[in-house]
Amino acid sequence: MSGVDAGTIPVVVDCDPGIDDALALALLAVSPEFDLRAVTTVCGNVPVELATENARRALHAFGRGEVPVCPGAARPLVRANPPYAQIHGVNGLGGVELPAVAAARPAEPAIAAFERVLEPAAPGEITVIALAPLTNLALLLAMRPDLADRIGLLATMSATIDVGNVTPVAEFNVWADPEAAYRVLSEGDLPTRLFPLAATRRAALDESQRLELASWSPAGASLAEMILGYDDQVTGTGWPLHDALVVTGLLEPESVRLRTAAAVEVDTTTGPNRGATTVTWAGEPPRPLEVAVDADPERFRRLLRERISRLARPQPA
Ligand code: RIB
Ligand code: CA
Repeated sequence: MSGVDAGTIPVVVDCDPGIDDALALALLAVSPEFDLRAVTTVCGNVPVELATENARRALHAFGRGEVPVCPGAARPLVRANPPYAQIHGVNGLGGVELPAVAAARPAEPAIAAFERVLEPAAPGEITVIALAPLTNLALLLAMRPDLADRIGLLATMSATIDVGNVTPVAEFNVWADPEAAYRVLSEGDLPTRLFPLAATRRAALDESQRLELASWSPAGASLAEMILGYDDQVTGTGWPLHDALVVTGLLEPESVRLRTAAAVEVDTTTGPNRGATTVTWAGEPPRPLEVAVDADPERFRRLLRERISRLARPQPA
């Protein structure tokens, strides 16, 4: 059993599926500890329209087609990105075509979904899991600053405390919208648990572990096939499932090594350091700020297996 009781974490998940986003959605879909209130999407790995379609198809495939998928920002806050490598395949899911799902109703915009969930919530009640560029979160804080106090935790795959993955100094989610990352991580006052690359790279599967994933359930087989189309390999350890570590790290906090930090600085210049992140460890943090500086790969894989295996059984409607 995970470190939290069933049904105790109401969450909004912001993502850009994306193969590792899909793994994170699969874990969320089968973990009763999470009360999935909405999935919001944003441009990042793929355009927001495709991220939205991928999230809808993935949730349906994982037995959670009832969860609303709510499209957000179609571009970064300020500057457009230069072209970048499409490491999640042409369709964002490694070329795997999940069954199409008819749209039951017009999609609720992401900002409306955040308002629907946050307005009636108690202070600190909602956890936001952010697995993509932070554009939607920055827009939320700009348009509805009054709702920020409903967010008790922002758990986000963002940043690097060592080397980057898009440039030597920048991690993709920050690099893709540095102004949004600055607003949320540097200037923001949300209680934050940051999962940078130093931890998320540890959540990797090599080829033999990918084949094991394929054997755990039909959904595991689809996810394993997606990973074959994932052009992001950490030398010697395989494919890093960055976003999935945020979910396992929430389910089993002891599976990551958390360190209290005082501040996160984001470089929003337009030079070679754009999107670089610097964590200040010393000093009194103005708000709760923790950084996962490491993770236990075996505990990650053990929890991944335990949860993805549940997808072998029909999921409750
Ligand atoms: O740097 C890794 C992050 O960028 C992950 O969220 C991955 O999905 C990509 O969006
Ligand atoms: Ca992502």
